[in-house]
This record gives sequence, C-alpha cells and structure tokens, in this order.
Amino acid sequence: MAVKSSAIGTRRPLTIAIDGPAGAGKSTVARQVARALEYTYIDTGAMYRALAWTVHHNGVPTDDVDAVVTVADELDVRLMPGDTDEFTTRVFVGDDEVTESIRTPAISQLTSALSTIPGVRVRMVDAQRRMGLGGGVVMEGRDIGTVVLPSADLKVFLTASPERRAKRRQAELAERGIAIPYDTLLREIVERDTRDASRDVAPMVPAADAHILDSDPYTASEVVQQIVNWHEEALARG
Ligand code: C5P
Repeated sequence: MAVKSSAIGTRRPLTIAIDGPAGAGKSTVARQVARALEYTYIDTGAMYRALAWTVHHNGVPTDDVDAVVTVADELDVRLMPGDTDEFTTRVFVGDDEVTESIRTPAISQLTSALSTIPGVRVRMVDAQRRMGLGGGVVMEGRDIGTVVLPSADLKVFLTASPERRAKRRQAELAERGIAIPYDTLLREIVERDTRDASRDVAPMVPAADAHILDSDPYTASEVVQQIVNWHEEALARG
C-alpha cells in the first residue's frame, strides 16, 4: 500500500493518538490540535474509507476476503490538508478525488464491515506506523493508542453520547445537502459502535494510559485547549 500525507507544519517532536467512536468530534478536534501545534494530521478512518470506496467502485465482491486484501495491498491513497474546514482532509485514490464520496452512509457501513478483516488491518496499521515514525503527528482513529502507536506520547479517547453524535452527523450531512432522518443516523451510529467495539482484531477500546474525555459538556475549542495543555505537560515530562 502506498500512502502519502502532507505535513501541515514543521515542528515534529511528539506523537498524539486520538481515538473514539464515530461522530464524537475527533476529526475537528484532531485537525485543530495539529494546526495549533504545527503537526501533521492523519485521518486513519479516511484510509479505511478509501479502501471501501475502491472495493465498491471496482465492483469487488465485498465477501471475497482475498480480493479485498489485494485491493488493500494495491491501494494508492493520498491524504492532503483541506483548504477549508468543510472537509478535514482531501483524499485521493490514484488520480480520483474521493473526499466527498467516501463520506456517504453506505460507504461508512461498508468501511466498518471491511475494517474487521485482519489482512486489511495489518496493511493499514503497517502504513500508519510508517507515517507516525518521525513524530510530530496527530493520528486519529479507533486503535491508534492501543495498536498503531502504543507508545504515543499522548493518548486521548474522545467520547460523546450517541444522541449528540447522531445530531452532529445529521448537521454535517445537511450542510452537504444530504437529508437523513435522525433515528436512522442514531441506529447506524449504535450499529457501527457495536461492530467497531466488538470485533476480534483491534476493537475500539481506550488504551489503559489514555485520557478519556467526554466532549458533551464542552465546545470543540475547549477540547482542543485541553489536549494542547496535555501536550505541554507531556513535553515538559520529556
Ligand atoms: O473515523 P471514521 O468514521 O471515518 O472511520 C470509518 C470506519 O473506519 C470506522 O467505523 C471503523 O470501522 C474504521 N476504522 C478503523 N480503525 C481506524 C479508523 C477507522 O477500524 N483506526
């Protein structure tokens, strides 16, 4: 798998892992933390989504594990910082820009299903570890603190109630002209959480040494500030 990502800045000392369920606000927060610290932001969910998009786009049978793993092997995905806050990352598969098409509810569900395949995870984790090697990254996903970067300098597990997450998703989709009923989104979020948290390989659980942060009572900027403070403490600890 070939993955490239562009650095937002040049200061590269620590690695920050931000994990948590869908819709907890991880992307917004992780991107803003990366901006504040001039670190590289890596959206690992976009990599899994790019795989699902490619499988779907090429008509690969989704139950053919070997074929899906071959797609993962050959995947050429590029993550670039977006120009605006509308999309946190611009995503390309080969020459195709898939930034918007990987965010549909159908691709979300397919992504969650394909990400349970061990051969897919091995390839993703390997590529993500290489991206984290130099430090100076804020990597966002489900298994970053537990599997991808177990020795990350700072680990955050960001949660929020399913209701708040469903509302946030509905607003995000509405901004892009996609109207989905709240109940459908809530059901999908709960389904995706259950699948992500109960899969055998790299289930979504907080690392033992993660800061667990429930974002419900806070604004995004307050959450960002808290993580920046923890980063300063981690820097001070050396
Ligand atoms: O973060 P996002 O919602 O874009 O992730 C889409 C899906 O990709 C998740 O529901 C999960 O199944 C999978 N994923 C994963 N491990 C990661 C990141 C995402 O399994 N590190």
